[in-house]
Amino acid sequence: MGTVISITSGKGGTGKTSITGGVAAALALMDHRVLCIDMDIGLRNLDITLGLNDRALMDFSDVALGRCPLARAAVEHPDLKGLALLTAPMSLPASLTADKVRALLSTARTVYDYILIDSPAGLGPGFRLAVCGADRALVVATNDASSLRDAQRTVAELEDLRQVHLVMNRIQTRLLRKLRATIDDAMDAAGLPLMGVVPEDPQVILCANLGQPLAVRGRKGAALACWNIALRLEGQRVPIMKMR
Ligand SMILES: Nc1ncnc2c1ncn2[C@@H]1O[C@H](COP(=O)(O)OP(=O)(O)O)[C@@H](O)[C@H]1O
Ligand SMILES: [Mg+2]
Repeated sequence: MGTVISITSGKGGTGKTSITGGVAAALALMDHRVLCIDMDIGLRNLDITLGLNDRALMDFSDVALGRCPLARAAVEHPDLKGLALLTAPMSLPASLTADKVRALLSTARTVYDYILIDSPAGLGPGFRLAVCGADRALVVATNDASSLRDAQRTVAELEDLRQVHLVMNRIQTRLLRKLRATIDDAMDAAGLPLMGVVPEDPQVILCANLGQPLAVRGRKGAALACWNIALRLEGQRVPIMKMR
């Protein structure tokens, strides 16, 4: 049975979509069957990050509402074997309930090893759908006070989940030094154990614009950090990468 992982944050722009794409690609390159579900209703962009823009005709609400089978709505990546995307609708259908999303995820678990859900910003109805059927969550934060406070609020909303981990994104050691801040401080602020530290890396923007999932670009910087997160999700012990 596949594992459902929600990538969430509270605050917008922390890197949820970039990290969802990077980790999903790494898991697929490890020969897993991976389904990414974009639940950022109205503001979807995981398709761009994965290089699958505008390929999807049906979205996850079509599957959840019984209008289309999962196999038809999920768009297979042409170059990355095992990776598929279920995109988001442009608006939230009133009839889309948490039970319907959970039923969709139950079906997806029988086909895929990992189901990665890209969550919207905020703690509204879209967020609730994005976490309602998750087995575990990754909360993505950056090292600024508002992002960490939002992460803390998000964690409070995830109390039903047993496994919730923090991913610190866009880390610049020079800035941390200037702020006299550490990753340990961030973990304390969010109240979460650490799953990964992703450096600030221009490759993230480059990859998104080229439509190349991060992990495909080798094993350096943010791409390496995504590989490490994927390995840790597999239960492997991987040291937190050193950054200069
Ligand atoms: N580690 C990183 N280094 C540099 N730019 C990043 C990094 N992570 C994300 N970004 C950039 O930040 C912006 C927001 O990232 P995105 O993944 O869309 O965030 P979210 O999904 O949380 O809104 C994008 O332009 C993305 O390219
Ligand atoms: Mg996003």
